[in-house]
Amino acid sequence: MNVTPKTHPPSPEFAANSHADRPRYDEMYRRSIDDPEGFWGEAGRELDWIRPYTKVSESRFDQGDVSIEWFGDGTLNVAANCVDRHLADRADQTAILWEPDDPSEEALHITYRELHGRVCRFANVLKRLGVERGDRVVIYLPMIPEAAVAMLACARIGAIHSIVFAGFSADALGARINGCDAKVVITADGAPRGGRVTNLKDNVNKALLHDTDDVKCLIVRRTGQQIAFRPQSDYWLHEEEAQVSDDCPPEEMSAEDPLFILYTSGSTGQPKGVVHTTGGYLLYAAMTHRYVFDHHDGDIFWCTADVGWVTGHSYIVYGPLANGATTVMFEGVPTYPDAGRFWAVCDKHQVTQFYTAPTALRALMGQGDSFVEPYDLSSIRVLGTVGEPINPEAWNWYDRQIGKGRCPIVDTWWQTETGGHLLTPLPGAIPTKPGSATLPFFGIRPVVLEPESGKRIDTTEAEGVLCIEASWPGQMRTVWGDHKRFMDTYFQQYPGYYFTGDGCRRDEDGYYWITGRVDDVINVSGHRMGTAEVESALVAHEKVAEAAVVGFPHDVKGQGIYAYVTLMNDVEPTEDLRRELERWVRSEIGPIAKPDLIQWAPGLPKTRSGKIMRRILRKIAENDPDSLGDTSTLADPSVVDDLVENRMNRG
Ligand code: WTA
Repeated sequence: MNVTPKTHPPSPEFAANSHADRPRYDEMYRRSIDDPEGFWGEAGRELDWIRPYTKVSESRFDQGDVSIEWFGDGTLNVAANCVDRHLADRADQTAILWEPDDPSEEALHITYRELHGRVCRFANVLKRLGVERGDRVVIYLPMIPEAAVAMLACARIGAIHSIVFAGFSADALGARINGCDAKVVITADGAPRGGRVTNLKDNVNKALLHDTDDVKCLIVRRTGQQIAFRPQSDYWLHEEEAQVSDDCPPEEMSAEDPLFILYTSGSTGQPKGVVHTTGGYLLYAAMTHRYVFDHHDGDIFWCTADVGWVTGHSYIVYGPLANGATTVMFEGVPTYPDAGRFWAVCDKHQVTQFYTAPTALRALMGQGDSFVEPYDLSSIRVLGTVGEPINPEAWNWYDRQIGKGRCPIVDTWWQTETGGHLLTPLPGAIPTKPGSATLPFFGIRPVVLEPESGKRIDTTEAEGVLCIEASWPGQMRTVWGDHKRFMDTYFQQYPGYYFTGDGCRRDEDGYYWITGRVDDVINVSGHRMGTAEVESALVAHEKVAEAAVVGFPHDVKGQGIYAYVTLMNDVEPTEDLRRELERWVRSEIGPIAKPDLIQWAPGLPKTRSGKIMRRILRKIAENDPDSLGDTSTLADPSVVDDLVENRMNRG
């Protein structure tokens, strides 16, 4: 089991030309741990401050109370850092390179100068709609340049954006609009993806149906299709832009003012609004982007995520633009018009760093190498993965077929909460092992704890839960509107540490291997899904009495969603009902939450106190009924036999 896999050291040429080779990583890491004030105090100066900070970190979570504050007395503006400050020496360089869904439509090259004009106009439109500093703006857009422009426009005027992934349903959107009390929702008429068009505006109308406050809706014209326009509260972006100037001075923000809210799934209840602030987040996104992808002038950086997820926030928009990079934004999907699309785009735009999720690689690997072979991938220097553990087969395929054995692969472990990479190789410094996120980034102090006792394991080789010992600038600051939930979720179980929710192993070289979530969160195609959310969607259906949801191993998605459903008395379990429930969950949450397998459960395994024993349900879903363990404490052990006998995954 613990056989050391082959390691892949960076080539000496790569190391020599990179921002950090091994000695430099070691030296910088050591300094960042021994003298965090000095390290971050210097690092922070790479941003443009309006009023420079004199304090670096006022953070601690080791003394019973938690406080997190970075660069607290400094002021700056994120949009000015991502756009204005590049006008002096790279105004005519492409900032955003947009590749449309349909490859026959023209790509757009938006320069920093153009981006500046667009952001300022957009910001003035928001002001015209009454948005003020501190107000919340929900962005529900496809992957079009206006998504990045809208984010930066909010940042410019000090409004807090909350992006809702365009694949979420009207109900999920509505909950998020209400959750942060948004003043404006920004959407588009339609969203082309994989040759099909979603009517986003319809979803917004449904989401706002029950809203008594008047939330305004700003609409980007993308497809030109007919929409249900509500004259009293809807505004077309292009009409509004014609009314405003392109002069909009950036607002002076405190380093600790919120920059954005992003809802993410947890182990209990409904998604929570993760809050990131201005100074520390931007610095951390920029610095990880530069070191982890070894960014240099002239690079064409492509992160294939959607801006609806944190990866898109940090590594399509804020990190790359803070560094004056050219960032690719792709509207489409990996398999349209065919499974060669990623490689066609890399070839077409001469991409130098490519960053994607293991699930996409597994799906493409399964389509065969003939989709890769026609393309010239020699421009690529660094490959990256994110979102879930990568299996060695997918790693090796990525290495050989895409990297041609020349490109370091950075397996980046991080979370919505962390703002940027925490465990990751630096490509010129750290020999990689397929499946390991390797070592900590600067300033990160990972620890492995015994799950039950919370005792810290100090031997090099260790296995347990992964926690972080001290704050870093990109850390989330609170849960929007619920600071207690923030404390309870991340700091209560293991006092003195930030609890990641992940399990891990540390090997004999001190390398970290993420073993997956230790809570009731599942990772479907690199997306986090709370089992509690899917359960509450299922029980909201009138024919469902009870539901329990667990993950199970899935070849392409990493994990699939397995739902045990107990129907109301007198309801017949039929194939039609199964499909109806799938559709129901799609409309309650979105397509990513659709159960892969639904098993009719006459009863669920419960303890005498009524608690569902998920351990047993997981084993059955994993097709491992021989290791159910002790079932004698169940209120009714016989329900297990029925579940085992009728299990759905015999794979
Ligand atoms: C998982 C995405 C293994 C992990 C940036 C984490 C990973 C959750 C990796 C966060 C990786 C992310 N290797 N597991 N390289 N990256 N994860 O908030 O379980 O959408 O806790 O952030 O994804 O997901 P989130």
